[in-house]
Amino acid sequence: MVELKGKKVILGVTGGVAAYKSAELTRLLVKAGASVHVVLTEGGARFVTPVTFQALSGHRVWTDLWDPRMDNNMAHIDLSRDADLIVIAPATADVMAKLANGMCDDLLSTLCLARDCPLMVAPAMNRQMWEHPATRRNVAQLCADGVTLLGPDAGEQACGEVGQGRMLEPDTLYEAICDYFQPKWLAGKTVVMTAGPTFESIDPVRGITNSSSGKMGYALARACAHAGARVVLVSGPVSQPTPFGVERIDVASALQMRDAVMAHVDEADVFIGVAAVADYRPEASAQHKIKKSGEAMTITLVPNPDILAEVAARPNPPFCVGFAAESQSLDTYAEGKRQKKAVPMVVGNLVQDGLGSDENVVVIYDDHGKHPLPRGGKMGLAQRIVEHLSGLLAKHPL
Ligand code: C5P
Repeated sequence: MVELKGKKVILGVTGGVAAYKSAELTRLLVKAGASVHVVLTEGGARFVTPVTFQALSGHRVWTDLWDPRMDNNMAHIDLSRDADLIVIAPATADVMAKLANGMCDDLLSTLCLARDCPLMVAPAMNRQMWEHPATRRNVAQLCADGVTLLGPDAGEQACGEVGQGRMLEPDTLYEAICDYFQPKWLAGKTVVMTAGPTFESIDPVRGITNSSSGKMGYALARACAHAGARVVLVSGPVSQPTPFGVERIDVASALQMRDAVMAHVDEADVFIGVAAVADYRPEASAQHKIKKSGEAMTITLVPNPDILAEVAARPNPPFCVGFAAESQSLDTYAEGKRQKKAVPMVVGNLVQDGLGSDENVVVIYDDHGKHPLPRGGKMGLAQRIVEHLSGLLAKHPL
């Protein structure tokens, strides 16, 4: 995953016990391709040593306003000049008070005052410190100054108390950072989508399903959310974590999936059908477990509704995107589905290229022809698909 490739992030770590979580945040950011430069305050360095952050970031760690390693002795200016973002995690009540008042008596606070890039802070403190009127004033001032507040969360605290003030978990902070860097192609839009397989029950313990990990659908839901959309994800049974900010509705059968989609389709500007919906379901599901008799048995299957085609056939349909997973003749089948279901865009792939894996090769089909995308990770592909979709949406009369 190279979502943050080419981005320079300065990570300020101040003196809170949550500093240990920032080591994990560093790892996640580096893994996503960001160049991470850690600035430790004196307090931060009491919790985690510079060695840890140096090893994880691959860059030397900054601790001192008077660091002689900078030729001009101006670390606070040089470090912030080409940074894309400064994130302070954990941010103590003290650093927030300093920032709210424009104080700059150490490298991190000076760097923040000298910056010309956005600043995000992830507060971490005891609940009484968080609720104190002085902190409330500082928070309000920081927000008024355009600083983005990430959290805090509520829950158990290191001091043994329970309440508001816990730092957000590293993966949540990471999501917020990725989100920040994505262009808001779908700002103000609502995307309703399906993902995963459906499960058509035969009896209480058996059923018919399709193989679908849900990875592509979930990556697309995440990419739509990062692009600024409200996302309603109707999901068949999968073991994927819900992407941050996505409204997930769990269903099992195609009929349940259809009902959930239809309950939300009026809100949708875009409908994306990624789910591998079972084409047929047993005519009836047995109330009790079917006992084996040793004889051959017959299950009568009846066709399921085609959710995508049904949405596309509505009087004022949302912009519809279909998926076509084929095992051969991709162009013929995928473009055929686009025509038959009357949808403006279909994303096709060969099942042998991507089923269950983290990578895929996809081709987009629309009124202008076919657009192959280079092989890539599902998240990167999802972003390219969202970009393409937003381009068509801009020209599409809704
Ligand atoms: O199964 P098929 O290849 O026709 O799927 C093509 C597209 O139609 C996919 O986007 C899939 O989610 C959607 N579909 C649907 N309801 C079905 C079958 C497929 O929404 N019953």
